[in-house]
Amino acid sequence: MKEKIAQLISNNVEGIEMSDIMASIEIPPRPDMGDFAFPCFRLAKVLRKAPNMIAADIKEAIGDVDFIEKIDVAGAYLNFYIKKDVFVKTMIEAANTDDFGKSDIGEGQTICIDYSSPNVAKNFHVGHLRTTIIGNSLYKIHSKLGYNVVRINHLGDWGTQFGKLIVAYKAWGSKEAVEKDGISELMKLYVKFHEEADKNPELVDEARAWFNKMENGDEEALSIWQWFKDISLVEYKRTYNLLGMDFDYYLGESFYRDKCQAVVDKVKAAGLLKESEGAMIVDLSDYDMAPCIITKKDGSSIYATRDLAAIFYRKDTYHFSKCLYVTGQEQKLHFAQVFKVVELLGNEWAKDQLVHIPYGLVSLEGAKLSTRSGNIIYAEDILKDAIAKSLEIITEKSPKSSKQGGCSQESWCWCCSFQ
Ligand code: ARG
Repeated sequence: MKEKIAQLISNNVEGIEMSDIMASIEIPPRPDMGDFAFPCFRLAKVLRKAPNMIAADIKEAIGDVDFIEKIDVAGAYLNFYIKKDVFVKTMIEAANTDDFGKSDIGEGQTICIDYSSPNVAKNFHVGHLRTTIIGNSLYKIHSKLGYNVVRINHLGDWGTQFGKLIVAYKAWGSKEAVEKDGISELMKLYVKFHEEADKNPELVDEARAWFNKMENGDEEALSIWQWFKDISLVEYKRTYNLLGMDFDYYLGESFYRDKCQAVVDKVKAAGLLKESEGAMIVDLSDYDMAPCIITKKDGSSIYATRDLAAIFYRKDTYHFSKCLYVTGQEQKLHFAQVFKVVELLGNEWAKDQLVHIPYGLVSLEGAKLSTRSGNIIYAEDILKDAIAKSLEIITEKSPKSSKQGGCSQESWCWCCSFQ
């Protein structure tokens, strides 16, 4: 569109090159000032006339044009208002081609994007939609720009919460109920655990013991954990299918559990490991940050340790030129700490290659979303509602295109609605 405007100007003015016109055309700061603006200051010297008069002359010379609503002379500027229907049509036609927005600036470079990453055994709620959709958009944009993009789902599939779930499952759960209701049943068990643990704190020790068993490779503990994880993944993948998206790797936190010791060794070798109240930490007070905990009192790894291990693994495996993390802004400090530790370990690249992309808190009627309190909306429900509403509108506005049924899709599809 900009080029078309430049061409119009070029056809009607002497003494200025097309490339200069292209470089001068601006996008006005406010929509009421038009879609494109052309300043006439530079022409004043060449044409020996006041810029506002030149603007008026150009407007006159251009006259009526099929894709322009109107042209205003605003001082030295010519403001062009494009006909919206023409603009939308042009955009849709351009966007319909495979090459729209394509470039090769990313050629030869790999970008890792860590996004979505729900916590296993917990419902995929509306909060996760943000990271999922922002991450997937970043994937699409970078792919179009020629980057090799590695989409990583860093599932929250390790930690003491699984000890709690195992205790709850053994005490109050049943195989049938979990098989029937999936994550909802696991959530119920999790809530029940917390209710009971308030009355009977010993349950927390029991949960810790089960998590310890998981860490030590106990077969029973690991097989229950794996089962919970498989069940969760089936539900998550249903939502991803609905969104028409996928990942290259589902490498959750558990994948790094045997890679955490190497992190501890690295930090120690660099002389950065300090003891603090029984835990091992990296002091970050010089950088105005709370310390980064590397291992807990009992020697086990934490979220940050696994993220450190993941960074080294990804660097060695994918040789990324950037690794992007899409999460809520409440994890800002966590990533700042982890990235700083990587840098302090002698990796200058951490400064510009590790990037946290935070988004704001998703709240519901002013309150934080909380699975435990039931203040929650599930992503799948929102998506299905959105699809149903869209279908309703399409049916109303153009009944022909929303004709339902008759196709051979086995899962949900546009023409057959829900199955
Ligand atoms: N599982 C985390 C959560 O739901 C998000 C993980 C983000 N990625 C990471 N590498 N820490 O909050």
